[in-house]
Amino acid sequence: MHHFEYRNGKLFAEEVNVSELAKQYGTPAYIYSAATFRRHFQAFDSAFSDLDHLTCFSVKANSNLSVLKMLAEQGAGMDVVSGGELFRALKAGVAADKIVYSGVGKRAAEIKQALEAGILMFNVESIAELHKINDVAEEMGKIAKISIRINPDVDPQTHPYISTGMKKNKFGLDIEHSLEAYKLAAKLSHIEPIGMDCHIGSQLTSISPFLEALEKLLKFYERLKEINISIQYLDLGGGLGISYEEEEPPHPSEFGKALAEKLAGVPLKVILEPGRVIAGNAGIMVTEVIYTKSNPTKNFLIVDAGMNDLIRPSLYGSYHRIGEVEKNERETKEYDIVGPICESGDFLARERDLPEVHDGELLAVFSAGAYGFTMASNYNSRPRACELIVDGETILVARKRESYEDLVANEL
Ligand code: LLP
Repeated sequence: MHHFEYRNGKLFAEEVNVSELAKQYGTPAYIYSAATFRRHFQAFDSAFSDLDHLTCFSVKANSNLSVLKMLAEQGAGMDVVSGGELFRALKAGVAADKIVYSGVGKRAAEIKQALEAGILMFNVESIAELHKINDVAEEMGKIAKISIRINPDVDPQTHPYISTGMKKNKFGLDIEHSLEAYKLAAKLSHIEPIGMDCHIGSQLTSISPFLEALEKLLKFYERLKEINISIQYLDLGGGLGISYEEEEPPHPSEFGKALAEKLAGVPLKVILEPGRVIAGNAGIMVTEVIYTKSNPTKNFLIVDAGMNDLIRPSLYGSYHRIGEVEKNERETKEYDIVGPICESGDFLARERDLPEVHDGELLAVFSAGAYGFTMASNYNSRPRACELIVDGETILVARKRESYEDLVANEL
């Protein structure tokens, strides 16, 4: 459930009228609901209350500092995948010992940064990375705590670009190489293996792939015990889906219950790395229709948000619900909703029915709180949108709209 609703035909973000926000702060604008973020975090986190666990929000889904701070205040740890994300998490006040660091390409400087901060653990994705972490830790006189990211070869039944736990994907190590990696980790002087990790994909709409992966990991855990490697953490990654259109993903409580059953008596602390399920429906993007135009086969709405602002439809063919900010009684027409960017792939929606739309009107793109702003770019030299957080009646400019000067700030 989220806090974007129509009241007398006008869209509200919590207690604030969205068209007033657009008037004041301009478009395109990302608008987040603080109450929705808190509610989603609490609903997710409490779903695992039968288990010793830590919920680490996946920063890549929404990395705005104020969002991270808000989640940290709710008790969230963070899952980071770069030095930049680690920097943000620490700056937002997240305790270092609640941060896990995943990703296939960690550089020495990033490893050093994480060791200096004292993060909970690295999720290691290759033997070469294990050696690199050991070398950096040795230079610093520190012990690096690690998990191996195990690729369990499970089909998450999601979009190929966001499935990560199959043999053909670049992520983690297959089961046999993982065993070798743990044997090596146990021998390396500056490495301490403390956990097992996997993340099989994103936008999963059923829990069976998670359970299939978990079963493989638990079998693997027995093999680790046989070789006297004792660990304390089981990181199951993120991936729980949300409803963009008609998907009916399981509620976190269903996932929590299934995990609690499978993990009864297993002395491991569970780490979860949800991103989308917390942030996705906690944000919308508002855009203004600049022009309408029609040809014999199509009606176009040309809006002021492009693929640089929200790339998901262009990149994955993703569906985002789009609605008027102020409802009207006009007859329905079919539209392609396209951005101003010079690419045919620049669209927010195709063949979408909406009550006739006029120039200058506002549209809301729903479910834009995850992988929206974080994937935005400056393509076509477009300054990135502002990010606003609504908390009851309060409005926080969580990120100012970029200026033309910002565009060239680092250029000669
Ligand atoms: N942990 C790891 C190691 C991940 O790679 C990811 C997402 C997550 C956690 C969080 O997954 P979530 O709970 O959000 O599904 N840009 C794509 C999604 C890419 C997801 C990448 N990894 C999209 O817009 O759909």
